[in-house]
Amino acid sequence: MRHRFLGLTLALLAGAAFASPFPKGDPKAGEKLVKEAKCGACHASMFGGDGSAIYTRPDRKMKNPEQLRTQVRFCATQLGVSWFPEEEENVAAYLNQQYYKFK
Ligand code: HEC
Repeated sequence: MRHRFLGLTLALLAGAAFASPFPKGDPKAGEKLVKEAKCGACHASMFGGDGSAIYTRPDRKMKNPEQLRTQVRFCATQLGVSWFPEEEENVAAYLNQQYYKFK
């Protein structure tokens, strides 16, 4: 009985550790897309460096995964890249893994 309980607890913990708000997104593919599209260039003109400070500034705008998804789409449109929804998901997954860490 005790063992079964322990096993269940561990399974739940493991599940929580791997849960992602972007389960279908591939962060590696997203990283490539962000680099190719040069998302950083425009952000860098506002925040300096490689532009990634926009994701980590204390008053960053993104508060949840849904906002992040929407912003990625918005900025991609600004930039004139036409990503498929899967690609947007990859990019959101990458930014989340690297910077936002939404659960
Ligand atoms: C034309 C300039 C421009 C380009 C190109 C651009 N962005 Fe942005 N990005 C902005 C602006 C402006 C903001 C909002 C800044 C603010 O509201 O303070 C922003 C904000 C963001 C944020 C939210 C930052 C926060 O506060 O948490 C994300 C995420 C983001 N951009 C992703 C991307 C991605 C991905 C790309 C590449 C497809 C990209 N951006 C390309 C201008 C741009």
